[in-house]
Amino acid sequence: MIKVLFVCLGNICRSPMAQFVFQHMVDEAGLTHLFEIDSAGTESYNEINHAGIHYGTRDILTEMKVPFVEHYSRQIRKFDYEKFDYIIAMDESNVEDIHALIGADKDHKISLFLDYTSHPRKIKNPWYTGNFDETYWDVYEGCQCFLEYLRREGKI
Ligand code: 4NP
Repeated sequence: MIKVLFVCLGNICRSPMAQFVFQHMVDEAGLTHLFEIDSAGTESYNEINHAGIHYGTRDILTEMKVPFVEHYSRQIRKFDYEKFDYIIAMDESNVEDIHALIGADKDHKISLFLDYTSHPRKIKNPWYTGNFDETYWDVYEGCQCFLEYLRREGKI
């Protein structure tokens, strides 16, 4: 089982989008049985407020025919570091925040999502940009390239 955790700040926009786009890609490739996929945030306020997926993410997933279920924001915990094999952050500040919460990346599990692509860059936060289309295509490219990386590495 390959356990993948996507991480952003609030766990209501980018990381749930990545979770469901990657789940769909894995399902379409007939690889469902090989993966456990989840998402989390580095902040706690959305968990405290029991926040669900942002409507912008819901809308773009619906438009792109990506199935999703309800997901409630939760903050990443030390337990997640032990459990997951790949902890994939959307930007550098997420990486710094993860370190602050769980300590050093002793098992080299943390990566930046778009470092799997040929054009490394951060996934801009649509909470601020309002551009969920741009986020979707960045997430889509990241998911494709991460899946290709796993194939190259002989993991799938
Ligand atoms: P996300 O976006 O990290 O992509 O989920 C955000 C969502 C909510 C907030 C910040 C970022 N917020 O400040 O509540």
